[in-house]
Amino acid sequence: MADANSPAVQPKTKGLFIKTYGCQMNVYDSERMRDVLKPLGYEPVDAPEQADLVVLNTCHIREKATEKVFSELGRLRELKQETGGVLRIAVAGCVAQAEGEEIMRREPAVDMVVGPQAYHRLPEMIARLARKTGDVLETDFAADEKFDALPKSRQVDGPSAFLSVQEGCDKFCSFCVVPYTRGAEYSRSVDAIVAEARELARQGVREVVLIGQNVNAWHGAAPAHDPKGGEWGLGGLIRHVAKIGGIERIRYTTSHPSDMEDDLIAAHGEVEQLAPFLHLPVQAGSDRVLKAMNRKHTAEDYLRIIERVRLARPDIALASDFIVGFPGETEKDFEDTLALVKAVGFAQAYSFKYSPRPGTPAAGMQLQVDEAVKDERLARLQRLINDQATSFNRATIGRRMKVLFTRKGKREGQALGYSPYMQPVHVDEAMHVSNRMAEVEVLDATMSSLKGRLVEAAALA
Ligand code: SAH
Ligand code: SF4
Ligand code: F3S
Repeated sequence: MADANSPAVQPKTKGLFIKTYGCQMNVYDSERMRDVLKPLGYEPVDAPEQADLVVLNTCHIREKATEKVFSELGRLRELKQETGGVLRIAVAGCVAQAEGEEIMRREPAVDMVVGPQAYHRLPEMIARLARKTGDVLETDFAADEKFDALPKSRQVDGPSAFLSVQEGCDKFCSFCVVPYTRGAEYSRSVDAIVAEARELARQGVREVVLIGQNVNAWHGAAPAHDPKGGEWGLGGLIRHVAKIGGIERIRYTTSHPSDMEDDLIAAHGEVEQLAPFLHLPVQAGSDRVLKAMNRKHTAEDYLRIIERVRLARPDIALASDFIVGFPGETEKDFEDTLALVKAVGFAQAYSFKYSPRPGTPAAGMQLQVDEAVKDERLARLQRLINDQATSFNRATIGRRMKVLFTRKGKREGQALGYSPYMQPVHVDEAMHVSNRMAEVEVLDATMSSLKGRLVEAAALA
């Protein structure tokens, strides 16, 4: 479909290759960069070799993530040489924000550097590059300006789409770069979010995933039709989005324990479309470590929240992130983390070795933990998490559930989808249900996925 912003005469097509690292925010931003560049004639291609412009949308969260960017840039430099310098290279995302000037200095093959709140300016930057005048480094923080400037139409493929409702973070956990790379917390308006959700539904999207660095910190003025007026939190927004025709499933990610408000918890028991899944990172189970991390909650606070969520929605699947080997973490502290994991019982969890990040308070703390100790703790934690994931998945064998089929499976005729609990589900001979919901009976389960059979092939929409 033609974009309202696009000129009457389409420019010559150019190849665009975007490589995305990091979190869901970057996945969303990469899609929006595609939308921004489309009116200039850029169309996605499958490999950098076919591209006129390569964008690396980068992540700064751990040292390894950042290293990957510089090694990828080395490869792209060679590719650029092969094209006689014609290939354009842009670095976007959180490394661009944190180390933009350094990238420009260290890697002359890079043509443009654009931060997460400035990518709506890519067309101007490309024009300046062609004229060889003006700035090709944009790292301003103006989230409101960006959202106003992004094209209203979005091109999505598939029945599930991310919708960014909140950006940035004011929490300043002592290990984390996000408050520096993404800036202050910013919430989009109800109207802007609803307009985007409607546009997604119109394009056949069945599941919207409301995303933000701290998505449950989202708040906004109630729209004019709400007689109570005042402020809404994420619970109010979810109830509202649930009324949009065609939206069959709603998820949100990632949340902070301190922002788990009563109304959001209540929504889990009341809103039918809201998936019984909550990713609520706790990071550690020791109060001493949580305090040093500046998490603003104790292990007990976290357990109480989980208790309330389970009261509202007994079958909810819980997920978390963990960091092992935070500065000063003792064997006893680490055992408190294992105890918390045992007390909760997670359906899935991500765990990382602490990685000191430049400019964050924790990087300068005494008593950094040895790599070998971190390795050993990570392995122990992951064993426990894997056991819990396996039990969670196996407990669903024999149950029937609605699966949203999003992709082809590995085998011929096989389709892959997601259960309400975010478990990947493979079903044979199911290609006719792709891009929609269908009822599935779970036949088998492993640590990471389910196998099922179709009970009812008709779309439930
Ligand atoms: N906003 C989310 C997630 C932020 S980043 C939250 O508040 O939880 C995703 C995960 O990366 C974090 O939950 C944390 O577990 C991990 N992480 C962040 N900084 C890290 C660091 N310096 N070293 C190791 N892991 C880190
Ligand atoms: Fe990082 Fe903490 Fe903010 Fe999450 S809440 S993005 S971990 S500073
Ligand atoms: Fe990485 Fe930035 Fe996301 S640092 S995790 S891409 S917010």
